[in-house]
Amino acid sequence: MASDNSSLPAARWAQTGPRRAGELLRDGRTHERSGCMAEAVQCYEAAIQAAERDAERGTLAEALRRLGVVRHHQNESALARDLCERSYRMATEAGDSVLAAEALNALAGFDVESGLIASAREKFYRALELGRASAELRGRTEQNLGVLANIQGSLAEALSHYQQSLLAFESTGDDRGCAIAYHNLGMVSADQELWDDADRYYRRSFEIAESIGDIHLQGLGLLNHAEVHLARQRYEQAKQNAEAALGIFDQIGSKLDKADAYKVIGRAYRETGRHALAESRLRAAVELAVSTGSILSEAEASRELALLYQSMGRNQEALRLLNVAHRLFSRLDARVDLVDVSTKVHRLEDTYFAVVRDWGQSIESSDSYTFGHSERVASHALALAQELELDEEQQTAIRIGAYLHDLGKVRIPHEILNKPSALSPEEFRVIQMHPLWGLELLATVEFPWDIKPIIRWHHEKHDGSGYPDRLRGDEIPVNAQVICIVDVYDALTTTRSYRPAMTHAEAMIKIQECRHWWRPDVYQAFIRSVGRVSEAA
Ligand SMILES: [Fe+2]
Ligand SMILES: [Fe+2]
Repeated sequence: MASDNSSLPAARWAQTGPRRAGELLRDGRTHERSGCMAEAVQCYEAAIQAAERDAERGTLAEALRRLGVVRHHQNESALARDLCERSYRMATEAGDSVLAAEALNALAGFDVESGLIASAREKFYRALELGRASAELRGRTEQNLGVLANIQGSLAEALSHYQQSLLAFESTGDDRGCAIAYHNLGMVSADQELWDDADRYYRRSFEIAESIGDIHLQGLGLLNHAEVHLARQRYEQAKQNAEAALGIFDQIGSKLDKADAYKVIGRAYRETGRHALAESRLRAAVELAVSTGSILSEAEASRELALLYQSMGRNQEALRLLNVAHRLFSRLDARVDLVDVSTKVHRLEDTYFAVVRDWGQSIESSDSYTFGHSERVASHALALAQELELDEEQQTAIRIGAYLHDLGKVRIPHEILNKPSALSPEEFRVIQMHPLWGLELLATVEFPWDIKPIIRWHHEKHDGSGYPDRLRGDEIPVNAQVICIVDVYDALTTTRSYRPAMTHAEAMIKIQECRHWWRPDVYQAFIRSVGRVSEAA
């Protein structure tokens, strides 16, 4: 950059009189590349004036576009758009289809950031069509289309665009372009779990990045490749790669990339059972992400730390972190320019289920009679929730509530829980404490869904004869009633210490006798849904 002799002090203006538009444009580029934005804007504005004066329409179109892009980075979106639209018109009038395509490419980029995905796509395709003559432009446009497809989760389409971009960059001998294309191909292959391809692409990207001395790209390649090693259970290799990447990011001072590197190192430690090391690295990842303000990175690091706590049996802490991650992701919901947030949110919800299922089962493992109870309650409750046409949120709350509903039973002495004969009134009072004890165990945990009413009131009955609060009628939330009826059904149809299991038909007779325990609509829907579930099983 510094060797570019087109960069001369603005004072030259005074000595040589009006300068040519082309020269001003080049100066603007030089300032822009070295990050001197105020000077770049000055040069581009002067270039526009000079090009208008000298009727150089090509130069005018380019200066307008470049100024537009700088203005966009300065958050002057309307002005940026206006400049690029003028650039497009000017290039079209001048019959320069490549410059017209460049303007469209820039406008499409603005569209992506504003969430106008369909419009962006249409402009990128027009740019591709118009800019056929320039392989360099084709390379970038195909790359942009690849990113767009990736955002929308169309991985096969993304792969094909990245391959086209690679071909275009190869034809112009653009090594950096090729390295980026290989890198993108690696990422999209990894997303599709095509591990051999991902390995190959990342290796190639790294080689090129190394040969051209692009150290940042080397670091990114190493780190993303480390994720492939993790997926293939090559933990030592993953850790080595991520540590090498960390060294690079440290050198160039890229905090956000460092956060991601710590995350991968922490995962490698976690997978190999080195919990203390894993915790320190994952904590570092969360802290760095927070310090850079990257919500996505913080959410992902928090989820990884939650998985560590789960594997250490620290379930409350795991759930607390998952709640943090969930809140962060929901702030990203409106950000359509981020790669596939919805997949990440689904993965987070799956992690929730994994943690609560595990926790629920760990309670049952000490009691052979109830083993599998929470899993069966969860599947029957989900079927009933769907029969009642409850919304997605309620369905999720019900499934999680099902796994955790009897959490408080860990505090009930074993001899009461498994007593082969009738319980004394005193023993029954102990049993009745379990909904409240469950809530105590979750006192420090918040959930994105309304779980706690389910735990507290899953033994309340519509006729007011339940516990612990003797609620009646509509005082009891429907979600708690759903768990209540499937809970009774599962208790009846499994062997208990004090009696053998009933058949489905016997249990249904019993349920019918007790129908006043539930809201009529819940009872009716249960009759319909339980038949289907037991048939399927
Ligand atoms: Fe219970
Ligand atoms: Fe239960």
